[in-house]
Amino acid sequence: MASVLDPCSFSSFTKCVTKHLNLSYNVDFERHVLKAKVALTVEALEDHFSSLTLDTRDLKIFNVTANGQEAKFAMGPKHSFMGTPLEITLPFDLSRGQHVIVELSYETAPTASALQWLTPEQTAGKTHPYLFSQCQANHCRSMVPCQDSPSVKHTYYAQVPMPSYLIAIVVGALESREIGPRSRVWSEKEYVDKAAFEFSETETMLKTAEDLAGPYVWGQYDILVLPPSFPYGGMENPCLTFATPTLLAGDRSLSNVIAHEISHSWTGNLVTNKTWEHFWLNEGHTVYLERMIGRSMESEQFRQFKAMGGWKDLQESVNTFGANNPLTNLVPSLHEVDPDDAFSSVPYEKGFALLYHLEELMGGPEVFMGFVKSYIQLFAYSSVTTEEWKNYLFTYFKDKVDILNKVDWNAWMHTPGMPPVKPQYDTTLADACIALCQRWVNAKEGDLGGFKESDVKTLSSHQLIEFLSLLLQEEPLPLSHVKKMQEVYDLNSFMNAEIRFRWLRLCVKSKWEDAVAMALKMATDQGRMKFTRPLFREVYNFDKYSEEAVRVFKAHRAAMHPVTAGLVAKALKVDSTQTTSF
Ligand code: BES
Ligand code: ZN
Repeated sequence: MASVLDPCSFSSFTKCVTKHLNLSYNVDFERHVLKAKVALTVEALEDHFSSLTLDTRDLKIFNVTANGQEAKFAMGPKHSFMGTPLEITLPFDLSRGQHVIVELSYETAPTASALQWLTPEQTAGKTHPYLFSQCQANHCRSMVPCQDSPSVKHTYYAQVPMPSYLIAIVVGALESREIGPRSRVWSEKEYVDKAAFEFSETETMLKTAEDLAGPYVWGQYDILVLPPSFPYGGMENPCLTFATPTLLAGDRSLSNVIAHEISHSWTGNLVTNKTWEHFWLNEGHTVYLERMIGRSMESEQFRQFKAMGGWKDLQESVNTFGANNPLTNLVPSLHEVDPDDAFSSVPYEKGFALLYHLEELMGGPEVFMGFVKSYIQLFAYSSVTTEEWKNYLFTYFKDKVDILNKVDWNAWMHTPGMPPVKPQYDTTLADACIALCQRWVNAKEGDLGGFKESDVKTLSSHQLIEFLSLLLQEEPLPLSHVKKMQEVYDLNSFMNAEIRFRWLRLCVKSKWEDAVAMALKMATDQGRMKFTRPLFREVYNFDKYSEEAVRVFKAHRAAMHPVTAGLVAKALKVDSTQTTSF
């Protein structure tokens, strides 16, 4: 229901709710626009209903009809990140509960924030152009005029209700290969075999998730591997997860991202956050499920190890934002805040830490999964707030409310900075990483000869990532140390993106000039925000190379994804209002 006020959406103030969305697109690769028609089936929530507001951004609206009759429409003033409200006046009144079909013909802008248009040269195959969308959080409005709020769920395509942010489109020279009874991987043919190998555990993950959370209701679960500029690790578009090619490490070591996106099939796509202020309900529960899948497929120790890594990511986000920044609240106010600017590890890792803390208080993983499963069942196909979640937690654990009442809810949810309780995770798998990190931190020049290639030979790639993360939390190492590290471990030759990313940051932090070009190359060869923004930021903070970072950014800007380009521009203090493409 649109009765909740979503601070990121004009349409949530309108007293109606979209039930169905019927979309047809004509893809114009020459002009970089979608020529489109959308028919929205809208239900009035009050009597004498005769006008509605839709969210749009940079759309050219040609014509609007209501049940086939011409309807008047006007665009309101453009807001910095909410876009432009489209006010439609119906040629008749509706009573509460009545439906109207509002049909709009329109065209998207070449700069639409949900879309990236790639030239053939920007693809692996080099012959066909490529288009993909990314709607979460509030970019759907740049490709469909709609009620662009996760509080509204409608049918689209198949008869399954979904919020607008899960609408997706891809156009390109795609091939596919079967990887399981209900799964295929899709990509340009150059990646398809590698992807089939990397994601071969998909069916096991789906089954594990079903054991934990209940049946998978979406039928097919496919994975699309996008070109390198895709801004996220993964995006849980229903039936077809979008994934970055940086997951293709060759050893399945980054497959937790797939476990994560699979988990969204329950927490996110079935049970959805009502507004982006409650984003932690999507991501915190999803990380919790992702790690439960890791626990089943690997071990409890592995879950504890990953949880510890997550705590460090949270610490880094809190440091970046500042410990008093209200955006580090688990439930932030997004009044006049662009959700893309608020995005960080906080909803993921503070959310996970809260759920893990509750798990410990309520009696362990099995007991707590009972709650999570029941929460999913109860709220399936709807959108929920933190308050509804919390009320249900108290109902489910009605025999343990005494313990729940001792939780400092205000500190967890509405206070910035690190959580009030630090969980004690098992360190078995982390011990080797901690020890090696400390050896490097404490080493004097004369000790450097003691480091050997064999130090890292017994570490898994997960542990190598953890080792580098630990070093990144310390004061920068002396330049002599990182040079020695390269000499003995040869980290420059590692192509695993999570390893390379941390290693290059470490080098730049230690002011190793040779690493600058490599860091900027990684920042532009792929466009995953998690890597690209910190790499640019790191080089920018290396005084001597600030200008170089800006120069390289400007040179690549037109080829970058619009959202990534905007956020990197802000990080480098370059004018971020400038449009990206033409
Ligand atoms: N839904 C998110 C990605 C997202 C969030 C896109 C907000 C746009 C706005 C996705 O499920 C996600 O969390 N991806 C992570 C995976 C990781 C936590 C395992 C990523 O992209 O790195
Ligand atoms: Zn997620």
